[in-house]
Amino acid sequence: MKTIIEPFRIKMTEPIKLITQEERSAALERAHHNVFLLDAEDCCIDLLTDSGTGAMSTDQWAAMMLGDESYAGSKSWKKFESTIKSITGIAHVFPTHQGRAAENILAQTRLKPGDVVPNNSHFDTTRANIEFVGARAVDLLSDAGLDTTLEAPFKGNMDLEKLRNCIAEHGADRIPFGMITVTNNTGGGQPVSMANIKAVKSVLSEHGIPLVIDACRFAENAYFVRELEPGYQDRDLFSIAQEMFSYADAATMSCKKDGLANIGGFFICNDDRWAEEFKNLLILREGFPTYGGLAGRDLEIIAVGLMEALDYDYQVYRHATVTYLGDRLQQLGIPHVRPVGGHAVFLDAKAFLPHIPQSEYPGIGLVNAIYLEGGVRAVELGSVMFGKIDGDGTETPAPLELVRLAFPRRVYTQSHFDYLIEVLRSVWENRDKITGHKITYQPRFLRHFTCRFKPV
Ligand code: F0G
Repeated sequence: MKTIIEPFRIKMTEPIKLITQEERSAALERAHHNVFLLDAEDCCIDLLTDSGTGAMSTDQWAAMMLGDESYAGSKSWKKFESTIKSITGIAHVFPTHQGRAAENILAQTRLKPGDVVPNNSHFDTTRANIEFVGARAVDLLSDAGLDTTLEAPFKGNMDLEKLRNCIAEHGADRIPFGMITVTNNTGGGQPVSMANIKAVKSVLSEHGIPLVIDACRFAENAYFVRELEPGYQDRDLFSIAQEMFSYADAATMSCKKDGLANIGGFFICNDDRWAEEFKNLLILREGFPTYGGLAGRDLEIIAVGLMEALDYDYQVYRHATVTYLGDRLQQLGIPHVRPVGGHAVFLDAKAFLPHIPQSEYPGIGLVNAIYLEGGVRAVELGSVMFGKIDGDGTETPAPLELVRLAFPRRVYTQSHFDYLIEVLRSVWENRDKITGHKITYQPRFLRHFTCRFKPV
């Protein structure tokens, strides 16, 4: 088999620069060892996130010029709405400025204190929006998903037994909706099988509980279903996505992922009352329902991007880049979540740095070391992001200490990844010199974005 090549050529370039090791060290000091606080221009390869960091296609740039900036009922809105309806078959479509705005309005309109929302794994903004209104976000990931070394196909699946127990424990009246996140970002970008989505829907339906899909990476999930789930090999990604959404009553979406856009999101639902209440708050918070916080040109870009994300050749290439890194790490014996996810490779910081206790955030030590070694920015998905803090300040660490190397879409080439592998190899060889960290400042919500650290 020949090398899988990038299915595009580059028409526009953006310079990147590697500052010296001394400069990187000083930059980390200034950022209080929190890479969210670094200047982006000081990061020569930025793998902080795959969110809003992708490159647009020529068709998207062209579509941008067609942006109809009318306040209400623009042509761009119609394209946006009809594209989303064709993929999802869901009745009501509301643009939002990004995914968390959809989550926020969903939580504000549907949840009350004491309610419970099950999910395979909540993303941090989803959890925060649910908790902000006094409800509880519960993760019901399958045990396979918690095992970072197990080579299994659908480690993003929800555990159905845990779901049944959750409903029995809290009662269906306290569960206004259940969620499933495809792919499961916080659990290693692992896919969810169609069979699991269908089964989750069926368990929820028995109790009259609607299913909301967190659809950020729906196209990557559709690709995994086609590759790994029996019966889907002859299906195109569009029809697989249609089937996925056929089990949903509603969905939240960040178009910064599989919308291949730099900003944008949406909420969709079938229930007229949900739609009415969502719309009222949308107008207050985001904007008129036909633009919802976005410019007409953004709506155009997303309408094109959603379809490009469902292009099979694009997904083959995308998955090849993730696998390329995963295979090299495997050869070097560097611990990471297996199999590799759809949008990222997740290093296992607990196994990488066994000498650092979870109370000293091994993921932060690793993220700092990677930046210092090569100017590469990664992100911790461990106890800083997901640790639980009780009223009295005691902290329960997260089950996994991961460091995510997220792949912006259509941005980096193979030589960038070769360089990254050299950086990781060197960090691995010098891992015993990496130290733990203490938090010196933290805000109340979403602390990982702005908290400060000091090496121990
Ligand atoms: N749900 C999931 C699964 C996500 O990964 C994200 C964002 C959101 C919801 C929120 O969307 O950023 O548009 O408000 N994830 C980004 C990340 C930030 O880096 O994984 P948003």
